[in-house]
Amino acid sequence: MKITVVGAGAVGASCAEYIAIKNFASEVVLIDIKEGFAEGKAMDLMQCASLNGFDTKITGATNDYSKTAGSDIAVITSGIPRKPGMTREELIGINAGIVKEVSSNLIKHSPNTIIIVVSNPMDTMTYLVHKTSGLPKNRIIGMGGALDSARFKYRLAEALDCPTSDVDGMVIGGHSDTGMVPLIHKAARNSVKVSEYISAERMQKVVEDTKVGGATLTKLLGTSAWYAPGAAVSGLVQAIACDQKKMFPCSALLEGEYGLNDLSIGVPVVLGKNGIERIVEIELNDEEKVKLAESAEGVKKTNALLDGVI
Ligand code: 2OP
Repeated sequence: MKITVVGAGAVGASCAEYIAIKNFASEVVLIDIKEGFAEGKAMDLMQCASLNGFDTKITGATNDYSKTAGSDIAVITSGIPRKPGMTREELIGINAGIVKEVSSNLIKHSPNTIIIVVSNPMDTMTYLVHKTSGLPKNRIIGMGGALDSARFKYRLAEALDCPTSDVDGMVIGGHSDTGMVPLIHKAARNSVKVSEYISAERMQKVVEDTKVGGATLTKLLGTSAWYAPGAAVSGLVQAIACDQKKMFPCSALLEGEYGLNDLSIGVPVVLGKNGIERIVEIELNDEEKVKLAESAEGVKKTNALLDGVI
């Protein structure tokens, strides 16, 4: 199983490290435009092989996509990250051109690859790849919901003062500070609805903290987060590489599902060897339906900024 990670920055390198440590891939190629940067990160990571017990071979390349040839899965993390106070949507002017070029280069050398988009604004970048790459829709996946759900579970466990492994929760909708839809009525601690344990007010704080989870870290770090994004996308890669048929909220192109069309947005999907094996239409209550529709409107507004790129 050959995996390419485009962008050897913090997110890309973390993703490569988590993939290697999980030891399911034979090869990871880390590629970047900065001379020697990906090669250096790959070498540093390979020097962890005996320490972290993995056999995955990690190599680096400087903008030479021939080294990515035959990739089964390709993760796009390239582009600029947010600075404090920025929205993800403000990155579109620079990142759209990068993502379009990167996806084209990847497909030229790996026509059968499955692409996972991380670059922001992620839902719109995923839509861009749908519109420009010619890949079938099941082989284009946006990573946002898995990360947002992890942050939701972190905040739920904080509110419940319990181990994170006790809680389950999912976030659907756009990967944006305003568009996320944490499914609070479905969140549970060991199968018991979380609403049995915490007040509506405390749940609202969980929701708000989840939605700005990325921005909170950007304010603290001075740049976008990388550990949880890298870990989240490595889980999607593993589900595909190992044909796990696992369900994640991912940005998927909708053609009528959830009453939505012609956009890519976070919904539950089953991931396996074919990428998106199927989109799962779960029962939403009226409030959740309204929030998802509003989120979709926001994503479509950002998609409209792609005019001229697609
Ligand atoms: C985040 O939310 C980078 O969009 C990513 O941290």
